[in-house]
Amino acid sequence: MIVTAPDPTAVIAKYYRPGSLAYDILTVHSEMVAAKALQLALRVEQLSPDRAFIREAALLHDIGIFLTDAPDIGCFGKHPYIMHGILGREILEKEGLPRHALVCERHTGTGISREDIVSQKLPLPLRDMRPVSLEEQLICYADKFYSKNPQKLRIEKPVEKIRAKLARFGEDKVQQFERWVEQFGT
Ligand SMILES: [Fe+2]
Repeated sequence: MIVTAPDPTAVIAKYYRPGSLAYDILTVHSEMVAAKALQLALRVEQLSPDRAFIREAALLHDIGIFLTDAPDIGCFGKHPYIMHGILGREILEKEGLPRHALVCERHTGTGISREDIVSQKLPLPLRDMRPVSLEEQLICYADKFYSKNPQKLRIEKPVEKIRAKLARFGEDKVQQFERWVEQFGT
């Protein structure tokens, strides 16, 4: 059996028109997150992070955004933005990439718990969506350093700003972030 490495650029090109606003935001944002995740992975070399997978999955983690209603970033779908993770998972499962698909589902905020889904009445299936594997955690954490604001795509956020944003979603989110700061550095 010949196993070929997934080609994130080819997968993205199936769903996004190159040159469109959504394509430009997705590809720049994803490159920033991939570079950051690979930089952070250097801190845990002893755990043998899968660097090829980190790059592929980071490039694909937000592939679901075009199906959401987020006109500011060129996305004109019908779903609430919070669903972009599970929508991305569905796409990548169809593409035969189940491991990458889980990164989509598990990267929002510091991860979404069943309790979050119930207490905030989120339009999501009731399952734990927090990152589990080392690679899932690195990508979720790296993603917090970059926004999809077209004006700020390449600007790394200071940790204080990330903390302040996460605090709005609960003290447990800040605590998870602090554990990553400790484990992976910044
Ligand atoms: Fe992202």
